[in-house]
Amino acid sequence: MGNVTLSGKGRRWVLNGHPWIYRDDISGGEAEPGELLHVEDPNGNNVGWGLFSASSKIAVRLVTSDKEQPNRAFWLDRIQRAIKARESMGYLNPEGACRLIAADADRIPGLIVDLYGTTAVLQSSIQATDRMRDFLVELLEEALPFKLDVILDRSDSSIRRFEDLDSRVEVIKGELPESLVVREDDMEYEVDVLHGHKTGHYLDQRENRKRAAQLTQGGTMLDAFSYDGLFGIRAALAGAKEVVCLDQSAPAGDRLMRNAERNGVADRVTFHKANCMQELRNRLEAGEQYDTVVVDPPAFARNRREVDGAERGYVELNRRGLGMVKQGGFLVSASCSYNVRSADFVRFLGSASRLAQRDAWIEELRGAAPDHPALLVLPESNYLKCAFLRVP
Ligand SMILES: C[S@@+](CC[C@H](N)C(=O)[O-])C[C@H]1O[C@@H](n2cnc3c(N)ncnc32)[C@H](O)[C@@H]1O
Repeated sequence: MGNVTLSGKGRRWVLNGHPWIYRDDISGGEAEPGELLHVEDPNGNNVGWGLFSASSKIAVRLVTSDKEQPNRAFWLDRIQRAIKARESMGYLNPEGACRLIAADADRIPGLIVDLYGTTAVLQSSIQATDRMRDFLVELLEEALPFKLDVILDRSDSSIRRFEDLDSRVEVIKGELPESLVVREDDMEYEVDVLHGHKTGHYLDQRENRKRAAQLTQGGTMLDAFSYDGLFGIRAALAGAKEVVCLDQSAPAGDRLMRNAERNGVADRVTFHKANCMQELRNRLEAGEQYDTVVVDPPAFARNRREVDGAERGYVELNRRGLGMVKQGGFLVSASCSYNVRSADFVRFLGSASRLAQRDAWIEELRGAAPDHPALLVLPESNYLKCAFLRVP
């Protein structure tokens, strides 16, 4: 069993409640890659137990401050707690989809599990969850109130490189269906768990899509960075009369149109494969106007150093988006870069409003759906901002 001792600085940091211990904050000890280890302060007092990484700058992710070593019952309880929370959100449903386990925010560092019907897609991003994968999967199957037909390990995220881990895609159980379709209220959509982004879908925007749809009833929507189109399709289902979706991904566009067909709104939804930066400029210059414009780009800043460059991107994109909102309409603008904090993002939107010469009121600044919890002591888990701006 491994153990580490914190430096004085490390001890002060941990007292703040943040569960990550950086390598610089450790004064001694040893452990194997991915091992569960005991953490002590400089006086030999118990700090808790954590998961060790031999490669990352984050050397330990604390899982408990208790003195007792976490055992099977401990991990089962963590998984049960995560499942119970999704159940009480109304998200647990063998025909629906949700994020069942959100890594550190659920206090199971390094493990994401998304559920699409009875298919579970997991992503392991640290050495410890690679090591514990089969054990955690066994507990997951024990804890779920329904049977999983398929379990896919899609541990192919680029963040694995920080842990010196290779990409891995493996069907652990069952056989992937040719087409995987899930239901969310009155909407059905297809998910490509094998090749799609993340685990196949952007589950975090679920509630923001509903809100945008409510605000667009009877109107028109431009859905920029649409992926497989669920902002647009939700809006069409709620009565939008025309929806234009833009994304650079052709497979997402094909899925989008199949999703539109499936929901009976294909006559009101179009998809254009395009580079949104250029396309928004062209459409603005052509004088296009919409009741709602959605701008949901990929993360522009993957670290603090990239924030300045990201500012230029967000300002320009939102300037173009705001320029196309009809008077009385909405810009729904998202940023999934944790490094762009809420206050920064609102400032960027302010610059966009000034440059577009459009007044805008910030009516709501929303986050991710509740199955992507934002743990208060871990600001990094609060990554998604989705601003609803009214153009009066
Ligand atoms: C955060 S996701 C959008 C999620 C989507 N709005 C939803 O609700 O599911 C970002 C999308 O931007 C697309 N993308 C990235 N760069 C792009 C670009 N320059 N032009 C068009 N699409 C782009 C990606 O293919 C991806 O689908």
